[in-house]
Amino acid sequence: MALLVGGVGCSHVPAVGAAIDNDKVDEPYWAPYFAKLEPARAWMAEVRPDVCIVVYNDHASAFSLEVIPTFALGLADEFPPADEGYGPRPVPVVQGHPELAWHLAESLILDEFDLTLVNEMPVDHGLTVPLSVMFGQPAVWPSRVIPLCVNVVQYPPPTGHRCYRLGQAIRRAVDAFEGDERVVVFGTGGMSHQLQAERAGLINVEFDTAFLDGLVSDPDGIARIAHVEYLREAGSEGIELVMWLVMRGALGAQVREVYRATHVPTSTTHNGLLILEEA
Ligand code: DHB
Ligand code: FE
Repeated sequence: MALLVGGVGCSHVPAVGAAIDNDKVDEPYWAPYFAKLEPARAWMAEVRPDVCIVVYNDHASAFSLEVIPTFALGLADEFPPADEGYGPRPVPVVQGHPELAWHLAESLILDEFDLTLVNEMPVDHGLTVPLSVMFGQPAVWPSRVIPLCVNVVQYPPPTGHRCYRLGQAIRRAVDAFEGDERVVVFGTGGMSHQLQAERAGLINVEFDTAFLDGLVSDPDGIARIAHVEYLREAGSEGIELVMWLVMRGALGAQVREVYRATHVPTSTTHNGLLILEEA
């Protein structure tokens, strides 16, 4: 069976991608943040996943308001970086894993999660920035990637509880896959941030810290956080944190916190990085 070897929670701030792409990582603004990534990248090099299931959100790059899937699974052989207005990021094309992706589709849908199946999907910073954070700038991404896109842009997004249970279903599917792939699940986006209107720039370190603590030791409690609480406490984009609950659900009841790094601010976002393994 395939083996789930860990979970990663990771923000997807586009400015982080731009700093990497434009050789700014050693600049005074960025150097303290990038120094915090080294242990995470070392863990990734040691764990060497064959496949990463990256739970992320699209920012009107693959989907627009014409079609808004709650959960969309990428089944393709490859996923090109999306043009986000300044052209695509200069990162490798993401290589998919159609065999495991189709297994996930069958297992999850028969497990009563009604996914949208996507055969063609460009991937934006929501997916490529977490890959850059964890892998740096390789010529080819060292792991295959199955994108699982979650609507957190247009109200109503799925609840945290639904995301947590989707993660548990992903785990059942991975365990039942007849392969020997090593799998890491990413939950991406967050933490507290608000990009527009009166509270633009909102950061709530206290809320984010409690969220990370709870994700480790009380995921059932964290899964009950309501949309309005994310909005009030973590700003209008803080709802992205529900995607971390998919990652947490894929791990067992007891986890070990391997690494945590947070940084305030990157752009206007409280940036979070969390690595979990099963205890
Ligand atoms: C920023 C953060 C995001 O999550 C995003 O999608 C766009 C911008 C930011 O912090 O600038
Ligand atoms: Fe975002």
